[in-house]
Amino acid sequence: MATERTLSIIKPDAVAKNVIGEIITRFEKAELKVVAAKMVHLSQEQAEGFYAEHKERPFFGDLVSFMTSGPVVVQVLEGDNAIAKNRELMGATNPKEADAGTIRADFASSIDANAVHGSDSPESAEREVSYFFGADEICPR
Ligand code: TYD
Ligand code: MG
Repeated sequence: MATERTLSIIKPDAVAKNVIGEIITRFEKAELKVVAAKMVHLSQEQAEGFYAEHKERPFFGDLVSFMTSGPVVVQVLEGDNAIAKNRELMGATNPKEADAGTIRADFASSIDANAVHGSDSPESAEREVSYFFGADEICPR
């Protein structure tokens, strides 16, 4: 299996619930390593650029408002099959449909306030990692 990097964001609802550590523990228990991390309060421009693929969707305005409503923790996770593994740990977008034991089943309250973001493909992982981190901010381990 290939070692990959993926972008994870602990969203404002999960930061407000004070479960940053519990979420990162799940990544670590699944053998994903945090190789970069920072807490940021996204500007409207940063959130709009990050979610540009959803610009035409009806929920775009609410998504941007939510993502700028408080600080987030942005991380790069590294490990075997990291992109799909993170998506499995996260669970379905709608927490009502998320499998038991996933991050969204346990910490998300609704489809819009759903605790975490994770890149969904190698292409989006590359774009999203470089959206937030320069090469000198990522620490291979
Ligand atoms: P999406 O990329 O489809 O989901 P995921 O985060 O699982 O990759 O959508 C991005 C975010 O947009 C999603 O996490 C929450 C928000 N969203 C809504 O608020 N309503 C919706 O109907 C959808 C599909 C997404
Ligand atoms: Mg997505």
